[in-house]
Amino acid sequence: MKFLVLHGPNLNLLGTREPGIYGSLTLAEIDASLEKLSAELGCELSFFQSNTEGALIDAIQNAADGCQGILINPAAYTHTSIAIRDALSALGIPCVEVHLSNIHRRETFRHTSMIAPVAIGQICGFGPDSYLLGLRALFNYVKNK
Ligand code: DQA
Repeated sequence: MKFLVLHGPNLNLLGTREPGIYGSLTLAEIDASLEKLSAELGCELSFFQSNTEGALIDAIQNAADGCQGILINPAAYTHTSIAIRDALSALGIPCVEVHLSNIHRRETFRHTSMIAPVAIGQICGFGPDSYLLGLRALFNYVKNK
């Protein structure tokens, strides 16, 4: 089983970016914890971060080649990107949306997700654990399908 982990804009700054909201772990540390969990579960991960919408869309389209699911934190594109939503919808493989912060407790513009309607589910508010919970959920979903 192979999954693509996608990180959207500004997540490359984790560690120093508003640690009160996003915590102090770097993106590399989050990826390492996912890698560790994937070894326990027995699945394979590939990782990609981009600050540009088109690059994320290209990565989603390329995932059609051999990936059984996508774990995505679309970051700010969550709230704006119909194009990323369409790419996920077109691909038709299961996707789980994750966020470090609880987007529903924050500014109202963060309450809307363009992605949620095409995802199996959304996990937010648990810091880096959102990613780990998301991977478990995606893995179980694909395994039981
Ligand atoms: C985020 C929440 C988004 O609203 C924000 O734009 C981000 C990070 C999160 O993980 O909490 O960049 O996706």
